[in-house]
Amino acid sequence: MHSNMSNVDTEKNLMNAIVSLAKRRGFVFPSSEIYGGLANTWDYGPLGVLMKKNIKEAWWQRFIMSRDDMVGLDAAILMNPAVWVASGHVSNFHDALVDCKSCRSRFRADHLIENTLNIQAEGLSLADMTKVIEENKIDCPNCKGKLTAARQFNTMFTTHLGPLEESESVVYLRPETCQAIFVDFVSILNSTRKKLPFGVGQIGKSFRNEITPGNFIFRVLELEQMEIEYFVKPGDDVAAFEVWLKAMQDWYADLGIKKENLRVREHEADERSFYSSRTVDIEYKYPFGWKELQGIADRTDYDLKQHAKASGQDLSYFDEETKERIVPYVIEPSVGVDRLFLTLLADAYEEEVINKEKNDIRTVLHLHPGIAPVTIAILPLMKKDGMAEKAKELYTKLAKRFSVQYDESGSIGKRYRRQDEIGTPFALTIDYDTLKDDTVTIRYRDSMKQERIKISDVSSIVMEACDNA
Ligand code: GAP
Repeated sequence: MHSNMSNVDTEKNLMNAIVSLAKRRGFVFPSSEIYGGLANTWDYGPLGVLMKKNIKEAWWQRFIMSRDDMVGLDAAILMNPAVWVASGHVSNFHDALVDCKSCRSRFRADHLIENTLNIQAEGLSLADMTKVIEENKIDCPNCKGKLTAARQFNTMFTTHLGPLEESESVVYLRPETCQAIFVDFVSILNSTRKKLPFGVGQIGKSFRNEITPGNFIFRVLELEQMEIEYFVKPGDDVAAFEVWLKAMQDWYADLGIKKENLRVREHEADERSFYSSRTVDIEYKYPFGWKELQGIADRTDYDLKQHAKASGQDLSYFDEETKERIVPYVIEPSVGVDRLFLTLLADAYEEEVINKEKNDIRTVLHLHPGIAPVTIAILPLMKKDGMAEKAKELYTKLAKRFSVQYDESGSIGKRYRRQDEIGTPFALTIDYDTLKDDTVTIRYRDSMKQERIKISDVSSIVMEACDNA
């Protein structure tokens, strides 16, 4: 069993190493960096975009395509503003903030309390948070200056429809993808003729005006969410919750996330969102501590009822068995693509000591083959004697189905290490024997073992390894 701490001595160093690798190798760059960047916004580079796409495809395949009880949706980011009034976001989607009176830094009051006192602060009122901060003499983490009282700050981004910035033209950038699923519930039902229980999944961008330090891509302003709303008959929600919790845990296990780095945390009643009767976080042990990777909530019939009331439309479901109209309950497993991306990077990262005396350390990402940005590296042993041509021929063939990288520069050892660092699970070396008998040496990233295989067997070996993501 590898440990990503084998050579990285502190958790802070581990985080720095991940951020630096992500930038150096083209996973994630700071956004608009030549202008000094923009807080909590990041760009996914040439390797990052491949890995992000793999994460989304794995989720879509597993939770939508391979299930008869699930359908997909791709709704607009901008919605009628009445949606956000009905959903409760206009009145409830706030963060409590405190400002430093000296250096003007701004912090989320609940995070400050949690990090300083190691207690849960979600659900505390503004007055309570101010009191806790004062009584415990919590100062500005930057300059030790005094803090203001906690104040509300709306986390929804607004923009304007049309050229005039009038108050009537305000629209919101959605802070979660799921509201469209509730709003489109009847259209989905009528067009698919689905019967309860069934679910709707959606991957898309959401926007949150987060003002606290983001820990790289853990907390971003422009996030991508993978959300499922699974509709059940009232009363069936309790069992469905357990099924979805297990389904998500199974996925993370199949993706190879280390068991000891995951835990489940039940929300206390006063901590839950206003719409939820039960919420559980699947938490990950990030280099900066245990934090939420994903949430699973029992949203009851809150959203459908709210939208039915506000729109005046009937959003109920006709139960054929009882011949009654009911409003379904809904279980919501929701995870951020960016957050899962960081989780997979952190979990996969290792600085493996190969030879202590020689200070030989290899940096390797033990990513699942179905998630790794490059699946196969094609490495001609030498450029001469037709090896490069043969390798390029193989590249063209495999690139039709897989993400493949061709590399002919430097020693084979150095080329293997370059691929280890970006998590490429398979490297194929083309040598003199390849020209004679159509075999290649396949080198496995994790074990570093090498074996001779027929070129015609490559696809099936790789496909099998990529499969269960
Ligand atoms: N529809 C429910 C909902 O949005 P949430 O707990 O606020 O619930 C769900 O968000 C998931 O989205 C989180 O568990 C996390 O993975 C991700 N997420 C939320 N805010 C984020 C942010 N600012 N940056 C990155 N990911 C975020």
